[in-house]
Amino acid sequence: METLCFGQIQNKEEMILMEKLEQLYEGKAKKVFATDDPALYIVEYKDDATAFNGLKKGTIQGKGIINNQMSNRLMAYLEKQGVPTHYVEELSQRETLVKKVSIVPLEVIIRNISAGSFAKRYGVEEGIVFDQPTIEFSYKNDELGDPLLNRYHALALKLGTPEELDTIEKYAFKVNEVLKGFWKTCGVTLVDFKLEFGRLADGTIVLADEISPDTCRLWDSETHEKLDKDRFRRDMGGVEEAYAEIMKRLEEHLN
Ligand code: TMP
Ligand code: ASP
Repeated sequence: METLCFGQIQNKEEMILMEKLEQLYEGKAKKVFATDDPALYIVEYKDDATAFNGLKKGTIQGKGIINNQMSNRLMAYLEKQGVPTHYVEELSQRETLVKKVSIVPLEVIIRNISAGSFAKRYGVEEGIVFDQPTIEFSYKNDELGDPLLNRYHALALKLGTPEELDTIEKYAFKVNEVLKGFWKTCGVTLVDFKLEFGRLADGTIVLADEISPDTCRLWDSETHEKLDKDRFRRDMGGVEEAYAEIMKRLEEHLN
């Protein structure tokens, strides 16, 4: 019993008490705890940052707070636009109540502009604007270094059913359209991002994990300044400042 968190469940009127029970999982950036409701987990965001499959390690002061708040705000916005998510309720600066899911072991990456591993893999410069977004999947498996795979590989490995993969793809492109438009109003270009999806107990696919500067490339639309985790990955400095700037822009534009 580490923390008591008070929050208001949206579909009930009364204040509820949510208690973190045992820690179920600790990842690179978050911890997941059981609650006394078997259908709900509490996620706690850390300031720890890693890159290159954990080879590079560091801390980004205040990142856990920004990523928690940004992810929650964006997920609530996406819900309104018809994308179901795991988000239930923000409990504290770093803690959020989420629906229990079993994660589909796929990293779903959408790209609007060449950057990162795409630029490296295909030997092109960063910043080429695509006529239409690309989608790619990685097998979420740290030991194997999250290898790229296509739909047929995912089906062969039984990572999802054909219907689940269709749903995931449909939601991923929808998230792109919604977030590209939103970030544009903030003077920010959504270059690329990674999503993860989960299954609720009844099999419904929902957006899970997080949407944050850790998982998106976000460039200032005019200067192309990087306002995301690439500043940490590439030792560019100004990491905390970039996270604060992108959060400030979100707060100014998302009511
Ligand atoms: P990439 O260009 O390195 O493949 O990254 C594509 C996008 O996915 C980028 O916005 C950063 C995000 N990403 C993660 O969220 N987690 C990861 O482990 C990696 C490698 C990328
Ligand atoms: N999640 C990556 C890691 O394994 C970091 C990244 O975002 O590049 O450390």
